[in-house]
Amino acid sequence: MNQNEIKALVGKSAVEKLVKSGMKLGLGTGSTALPAVRHVGLLLKEGKLTNIKAVSTSLQTSIECEKWGIPLYTLNSGEIGGRLDLAIDGADEVDGRHWCTKGGGGALLIEKITAYASASFCVVVDESKVVENLGLKFPVPLEVIPEARRTVTLTLEKMGAGVILREALRKAGPVITEHGNILLDITFKNPVNCEELETECNRIPGVVENGFFTRLRPVVFIGHSDGSVEIKQ
Ligand code: A5P
Repeated sequence: MNQNEIKALVGKSAVEKLVKSGMKLGLGTGSTALPAVRHVGLLLKEGKLTNIKAVSTSLQTSIECEKWGIPLYTLNSGEIGGRLDLAIDGADEVDGRHWCTKGGGGALLIEKITAYASASFCVVVDESKVVENLGLKFPVPLEVIPEARRTVTLTLEKMGAGVILREALRKAGPVITEHGNILLDITFKNPVNCEELETECNRIPGVVENGFFTRLRPVVFIGHSDGSVEIKQ
């Protein structure tokens, strides 16, 4: 199986196993989460799922929900009331403790709010995302108020991070998030305490949120190239 086929398989498999009619559901962003979104749409169309109330984590996901007729609400709506039953999302890296890093697609802010507002969280990844130590290979993004670009960069560098301002493709200048902010991508040379960093990064004035997800213990669905899906509870 190629990587896209694995992503489609793992997203679908998580929906089949975990999504039940009547759920308030957080829907993630990216190329592994989208097949899960589509599968929810398909099951709704076939009548195998009913009464799903979804909250989207990005414009990309909202557009996919529109295509599939998935009923969308905001976290603040009366129907959702700030709490979800389940959130399903991809990740950039996941480790043995089920901690993960997210935000490669730039949607980490709403992804974190959504995941942390859910009774349970499910991460869907292909096997290439499983690592021993987070943040050494794939950069961890921070969403930052544009005015704080240099001050936050200096502080992160003092903390030992390599910092890169995320540049846009097919638009001059930096990526601007759906909330009007910039993204600073950080990496480390040696293993770091991610739990501590999740808290510390948010203490820097101007940081809105960071892509470390260490406060949940998600169920992790890992898709393998032989077509198998491993479920880590
Ligand atoms: C979006 O901001 C991210 O958190 C994605 O969930 C993450 O980057 C994984 O994306 P892919 O499934 O496309 O690799």
